[in-house]
Amino acid sequence: MILADGIHKRFGAHEVLRGVSLTLAKGEVIAVIGPSGSGKSTFLRCLNHLETIDAGRIDIEGDTLAANDAHGRARYVADAEVRRICVRMGMVFQHFNLFPHLTVLQNVIEAPITVKGMKRDAILPKAEELLKKVGLLDKRDAYPSRLSGGQKQRVAIARALAMEPDIMLFDEPTSALDPELTGEVLRTMRQLADEHMTMLVVTHEMGFAREVASRVAFMDGGTLIESQPSADFFANPQHPRTRAFLESML
Ligand SMILES: Nc1ncnc2c1ncn2[C@@H]1O[C@H](COP(=O)(O)OP(=O)(O)OP(=O)(O)O)[C@@H](O)[C@H]1O
Ligand SMILES: [Mg+2]
Repeated sequence: MILADGIHKRFGAHEVLRGVSLTLAKGEVIAVIGPSGSGKSTFLRCLNHLETIDAGRIDIEGDTLAANDAHGRARYVADAEVRRICVRMGMVFQHFNLFPHLTVLQNVIEAPITVKGMKRDAILPKAEELLKKVGLLDKRDAYPSRLSGGQKQRVAIARALAMEPDIMLFDEPTSALDPELTGEVLRTMRQLADEHMTMLVVTHEMGFAREVASRVAFMDGGTLIESQPSADFFANPQHPRTRAFLESML
């Protein structure tokens, strides 16, 4: 579903990604963990073109988004193709990014209508079904300011799903939440994983990484240090930096 190969990204003089490679298979859930500033968010943002890469290759479901030219510089496909590819990925952010002036339901139907050109009547049943799935159908007419953080994040998940993505990217979806609200969001994500959604999740939740992710990838200093099936990752981390990080999380 995702092939990232040798991704390099710099902000000015700072090389934030130094050749990151990762593949994500259909139905797989990969948790990306690592210290602050290691490049996790930047990597995720590069995959769906919220940031552009300097070098490397990104294929999404077999379609090339960007690849190196003869000089080793990444070249993107045409804009229309970029949009066609990126719409297959839904993204959920740490700070929800809901539209404050729209109700819960309006938040969920907005992109299908404006981006996909769907009719309101056509998306409404689907939107209600999604709100039911995340347990928020009774909040359909509420504004985001009246919701708890956990509820906002579940709306954000429903909103991403309304675009019928093949892949979901999550960037620390629970790190802005109190512990008691974290659980309800993780349950929603676990349910998605059980339905075989393909997911790439940047997280500090070691329990989620251990129990829900099929693989765990550890990033440090702009490099993907190691990636293993989650049971092996926690039982037998290969790299000293991974071991040090895991010890610091206990
Ligand atoms: N738009 C930007 N301009 C300049 N530097 C940036 C930009 N975005 C990120 N960086 C820098 O890139 C590095 C990696 O940032 P990134 O947000 O990817 O880290 P992270 O692993 O997600 O960290 P955290 O766990 O704190 O979210 C940091 O040093 C950050 O300051
Ligand atoms: Mg981050």
